[in-house]
Amino acid sequence: MEIVIVDDRASVHRLAADMVAEQLESKPASVLGLATGSTMEGLYAELLTRALDFSAVTTFNLDEYLGLEAAHPCSYHSYMHTHLFNHAEFGCIHLLDGATQEPRDHCLQYEADIARAGGIDLQLLGIGVDGHIAFNEPGSSLASRTRVKTLTPLTRQTNARHFPAEEAVPMHVLTMGIGTIMEARHCLLLALGKRKAQAVRDFVEGAVSARCPASILQMHPRCTVVVDNEAASKLELAPYYRFVWANRPQ
Ligand code: GLP
Repeated sequence: MEIVIVDDRASVHRLAADMVAEQLESKPASVLGLATGSTMEGLYAELLTRALDFSAVTTFNLDEYLGLEAAHPCSYHSYMHTHLFNHAEFGCIHLLDGATQEPRDHCLQYEADIARAGGIDLQLLGIGVDGHIAFNEPGSSLASRTRVKTLTPLTRQTNARHFPAEEAVPMHVLTMGIGTIMEARHCLLLALGKRKAQAVRDFVEGAVSARCPASILQMHPRCTVVVDNEAASKLELAPYYRFVWANRPQ
């Protein structure tokens, strides 16, 4: 993994936007895997300030709450339209349908659609405080595919800030699997702030284990992790990561 530690949130978003822009420059018809959460808001805002052409881009979102209609204000469908899709023209967007009556078939179809698009070139990822990626909670199979998952009480509590009340956070979700995410050609994980410091320490320097789902990224051939100083504050090898980045080959 390439660990990049920068000073603040804005620098994380700028650097991540540079990487997305490079991806689109080298392949205008890229397939992007998109993420939600507060961490991504600044990245989408930064991308929209740049004159990027998304018209040939295909997107696949990581996850969605099961039981929420697309138009529900707390759905990830609404989030994506508010923060990105309403403001730029995209080639083809894919979101999991939280209102599906056939979740199994829907998830299989989503996997087939990703394969038909040629796989994901660049997958954006955030991380939960418990080390989850997408909605793959601790204990998820490290080889899992897109499916229904049950949220942990901690995740429902953490995500309650986006809902009127904690009880309003759905218990079940649809999420790309860890195996699905691992097939992306490049993974780009962003983490911000002190509250992510332990999860960052666990997934970057801890054991590879389903206890911390993001730790599987240690096995990914090309994973870039961009964090601010606070999120990096528990990394034992932080001085070395800074040294490597400062002296990276051209
Ligand atoms: C949710 C999403 C994750 C995201 C996480 C962190 O649980 N399913 O994909 O990484 O939130 O969100 P935030 O960026 O708001 O901390």
